[in-house]
Amino acid sequence: MTDTETLRAHIATVLARARDRTHTLTDAVDETDLIAQHSPLMSPLVWDFAHIGNQEELWLVRDVGGREPVRADIDGMYDAFQNPRRDRPQLPLLRPDEARDYTRVVRDKVFDVLEANALKGHRLVDEGFAFGMIAQHEQQHDETMLATHQLRAGAAVLTAPPPPASRAPVAAEVLIPGGPFTMGTSTEPWALDNERPAHAVHVDAFVIDAAPVTNGQYLGFIEDGGYDDPRWWSDAGWRHRRTENLTAPAHWHPDPGGWLYTRFGVTRPLIPDEPVVHVCFHEARAYARWAGKRLPTEAEWEKSARFDPATGRSRRFPWGDDEPDETRANLGQRHLAPAPVGAYPRGASALGVHQLIGDVWEWTDTDFHGYPGFTAFPYREYSEVFFGDKYKVLRGGSFGTDAVACRGSFRNWDLPVRRQIFAGLRCARDPRPGEAG
Ligand SMILES: [Fe+2]
Repeated sequence: MTDTETLRAHIATVLARARDRTHTLTDAVDETDLIAQHSPLMSPLVWDFAHIGNQEELWLVRDVGGREPVRADIDGMYDAFQNPRRDRPQLPLLRPDEARDYTRVVRDKVFDVLEANALKGHRLVDEGFAFGMIAQHEQQHDETMLATHQLRAGAAVLTAPPPPASRAPVAAEVLIPGGPFTMGTSTEPWALDNERPAHAVHVDAFVIDAAPVTNGQYLGFIEDGGYDDPRWWSDAGWRHRRTENLTAPAHWHPDPGGWLYTRFGVTRPLIPDEPVVHVCFHEARAYARWAGKRLPTEAEWEKSARFDPATGRSRRFPWGDDEPDETRANLGQRHLAPAPVGAYPRGASALGVHQLIGDVWEWTDTDFHGYPGFTAFPYREYSEVFFGDKYKVLRGGSFGTDAVACRGSFRNWDLPVRRQIFAGLRCARDPRPGEAG
């Protein structure tokens, strides 16, 4: 096969993988459930479904392919900026069977476009970028739909094998030496605009937790009265804690025998060595303060994940440049839960930090901004309109993130009050005197 044929085959594989997952998430429930809004924070599943097809039509059929529109009449309805999530149930949305037909027609045309396109010659298609962007877009909506499933009331409809057990002890903390490292990327072909360009960043020596904070550790914060002690919370965090009456992560329930946790319709005792999930930024920050630590900055997180002290270069992933597989990271909804600490020793970074990729998104203490030299591509609404001090950066992906939408440079962002996403945390701190060598 030529390089272009190999690239076409790879694109076809990732597009098919995304669509299989979209079907798994939408076939699992009946029509009523697809149309219902399960939370004002979320779209009806059928909106996400048709929106996936509409974005694919706009970028790949019309823009890259230069083909006639399939359904130009629905563009406005599926424009995320024109229609906030809370308003989407009132729109005259495509019915589930119409959404299935529409997405299939679009996908058939995309495979024609893929066969005809040289995948080089201009930036939108070089190395298959637009196809990779659309595969990532579908997988990101699949993760959002998985979050909608977690908010949905009723019996369990999704099944998956449990994540692997812990197979190696993990140190409590790792010292990361001070000095420069390369943050972001200029070479990753499907990296999005906000990950670019690669640039040198000096980071002072710091200490980071070798694993995400677990349910058991977080329980210590609750039992110590952490939710009732304003010392640990920022002013905004404390106001939010009180207004929303937060007392524990979302989906936790107190029980005479200990805390229970409801996950995708199944209620079970909390698993102590599993990373905590469904905490907002304010809770993550309060936990870190209580623990005598802080959240890492985004640069600290990325240096822990990518910096290879032997070569001085930044890796694509913590373990190296190879694509993720099931021995290295818990990604892609292969399991419906984060894996316990120590489950992926082969996925550790060069500096010895575990489970940075997969399991839970990790809140950082950094606002979402463009890197020095940022240019919006292919449109301002992808990232640039979100830059500012409203959004906090999250890193590393969750068990619900697909490998195509996850790498050492990948950046996610959300409001500090959000906790329907699969987000947890790990802590960092400044070295103590003498500790930094
Ligand atoms: Fe979207």
